[in-house]
Amino acid sequence: MKLTSTLALLLFSIAVLGGCERDRMSERGFSLPEGDPVAGRDTFVYMQCHQCHFIEGEQFPALPGVDPPYVELGGKVTRVKSYGELVTAIINPSHKLADGYPPDRVSEAGESLMYVYNRYMTIQELIDLVMFLQPHYEVVVPHYDYRMYP
Ligand code: HEC
Repeated sequence: MKLTSTLALLLFSIAVLGGCERDRMSERGFSLPEGDPVAGRDTFVYMQCHQCHFIEGEQFPALPGVDPPYVELGGKVTRVKSYGELVTAIINPSHKLADGYPPDRVSEAGESLMYVYNRYMTIQELIDLVMFLQPHYEVVVPHYDYRMYP
């Protein structure tokens, strides 16, 4: 009996401590200030994001000697691109690869081909970039064909 209750206590502690560990890594309470979309566009050009990205309706200065960009940012999506998702896509590109591309086109051994800017990009630049990018996403309702049966 004693052993059983000691064991139960031990298991209980592990569960609780495990829970705390998860809590410690939780994004609860995370919030960044609003950025400036105009400054974000300047940052996009300055950091040469258009080496690899194009955005419908936006023209960026030509980059001689660089292959045409191949990953679209913005455009039609079926679900809103949240602030958190865009921040994550920039500072942790391999966390979740962009939808709609064959993995070997945008990644190598599971790692995104996007540069990691974390050592060079300021937080202000990050939030400005996100403010610039977010309005370019247009949420569309997926279209399904229904067939009516008599
Ligand atoms: C060397 C090429 C390259 C450069 C330069 C680059 N990216 Fe990317 N980026 C990629 C690739 C490849 C992906 C798709 C794989 C992924 O999701 O990480 C991507 C994905 C993204 C996504 C997610 C798109 C989606 O639909 O989920 C965002 C947002 C993004 N990049 C922003 C930026 C910004 C901002 C810059 C400049 C600071 C930048 N990228 C520079 C290659 C690049």
